[in-house]
Amino acid sequence: MCGIVGYIGRRDVAPLLLEGLQRLEYRGYDSAGMAIHSSGRGGGLKTVKNKGRVRELEAKVPARFSGTCGIAHTRWATHGAPSDENAHPHLDAADRVAVVHNGIIDNSAELRAKLTADGVELRSETDTEVLAHLIGRSEAATLEEKVREALRLIEGTYGIAVLHAGFPDRIVAARNGSPVVLGIGEREMLVASDVAALISHTRQVITLDDGEMATLKADDYRTYTTDGSRTAASPTTVEWEAESYDMAGHDTYMHKEIAEQADAVDRVLRGRIDERFGTARLGGLNMDAREARSMRRVKILGCGSAYHAGLIGAQMIEELARIPADAEPASEFRYRNPVVEPDTLYVVASQSGETYDTLAAVQELKRKGAKVLGIVNVVGSAIAREADGGIYVHAGPEVCVVSTKCFTNTAVAFALLALHLGRIRDLSVADGKRIIEGLRKLPGQIAEILRHEDRIIELAKDFADAKSMMFVGRTRGFPVAKEASLKLKEVSYIHAEAYPSSELKHGPLALIEPAVPTVAIVPGDELLDKNRATLEEIKARQGRILAVAHEIQEKADATIVVPQNEPELDAVLMGIPLQLLAYHTALMLGRDIDKPRNLAKSVTVE
Ligand code: AGP
Repeated sequence: MCGIVGYIGRRDVAPLLLEGLQRLEYRGYDSAGMAIHSSGRGGGLKTVKNKGRVRELEAKVPARFSGTCGIAHTRWATHGAPSDENAHPHLDAADRVAVVHNGIIDNSAELRAKLTADGVELRSETDTEVLAHLIGRSEAATLEEKVREALRLIEGTYGIAVLHAGFPDRIVAARNGSPVVLGIGEREMLVASDVAALISHTRQVITLDDGEMATLKADDYRTYTTDGSRTAASPTTVEWEAESYDMAGHDTYMHKEIAEQADAVDRVLRGRIDERFGTARLGGLNMDAREARSMRRVKILGCGSAYHAGLIGAQMIEELARIPADAEPASEFRYRNPVVEPDTLYVVASQSGETYDTLAAVQELKRKGAKVLGIVNVVGSAIAREADGGIYVHAGPEVCVVSTKCFTNTAVAFALLALHLGRIRDLSVADGKRIIEGLRKLPGQIAEILRHEDRIIELAKDFADAKSMMFVGRTRGFPVAKEASLKLKEVSYIHAEAYPSSELKHGPLALIEPAVPTVAIVPGDELLDKNRATLEEIKARQGRILAVAHEIQEKADATIVVPQNEPELDAVLMGIPLQLLAYHTALMLGRDIDKPRNLAKSVTVE
């Protein structure tokens, strides 16, 4: 997704904007640019932008490109191919207004036609350019009013920051559907689409709500709605330190974030275990026991890995709370005109808390009066604020586009929710304590798995040349197979698909041959014999098998043995070696690990 960053204060702005863009690179982009109020003779706006990486933009910055107020952007192309002309910021015809934008203007074609008919020469293929012209053509007296006038004409989503040559003392920002966060510093203010771009300057942040705007000056800020009424936003302190965005000695964020999982799981458990009653203490649900008991089913929504964590969560809730639970992609849910029932508890999972499809599903549910919990990593994100309550997963910033530690922490958060709901119902205190024992073992068992990385590197060598791979699992193992298949696809670009083991014989078995290896999830649970039978089926067709199991599987060509936990929690552990398998396979193929092609970290558009 596009990234925006802006600064106004007393420091030289260009280096700060470039640093902010580098902090946003992980979100995925194809071009970058910036605009500043020039402190040189004649003032006015100066811009520099190009297709390509931030470091190429840095090389293009001209001499005397200096000032103390500016905005910048990394673009993930939606309208118009990646090119210098389509890179942001976009300017009005008089080059007096500069706009950076994250989102999609749905009625941009109509507005472009009107502007062209009025004699405006459009210089790019983007939707964003229309905003710059609308602001530049406004005759309102203030920049705030010019921006408000323009926003009233557009339909769609935006997170924007605006400069105007006639108002060099301010940046105006606005949000509708795409994240905008303000950084409140000492005699300097910042704006960005992601805390990552602010945190090295300040940890005091304000997250704008949809329909909210802000005016930033060097030593002041104001927030108000798009119809002009003041809002009383006050800063909150970001829990993450700037250092947590560093590589910490790892070659990639993905490797760092895989390695952090033992500590991350420690954090999601911290303060949430109630030994005495054998349950989980979840203060943020805003749902008392009586309301929780009135819920007759749970529907979990999310996208990508968050959806897969939801599949694990649904399994855990059914096993521990004995109420029907299922998960589906948020994008599917919101478009199928779902039946929303008052006695269904809706739980949405999202690392960023800004995924558009998931946020839109939450807003649809809220419109229908549903009870919605959010299981989210980014504190204060849109989904966290829209939900009625929830559980923060405390995984720390997840920079790599490929989710690993947040996926695991979300699965553990679901285990805590399942335990909590189970102990409100018929789960015994003995069983509750059994699950708590299992939860407490997770960090150590994760560390144990990660100590066998060298073995996984050897195994990855067998798969780097695969054209396609099959991942199979049964009941608790199937979501593990789905997530492992996604990991391999998105970081190594090898085609992979996940199937319920029992479904292989209904068709997919035709794909099995030596060139299509299978990864089989084989927990030592009550279905072990069934899973072993699947290995036989595959072996009989000369398929190569890598098993992830609690003991060596004779029928498999290789087995990754993982520590056994409680049956309801094993899924949290069985996918972790497969994160490393995907990572090292991709490394051998020379892939761009932290920024895989075509992908973005937070998909804030539809
Ligand atoms: C995970 O590896 C993917 N990058 C992607 O599927 C991600 O999980 C999905 O886009 C949801 O993001 P969210 O958790 O921030 O909502």
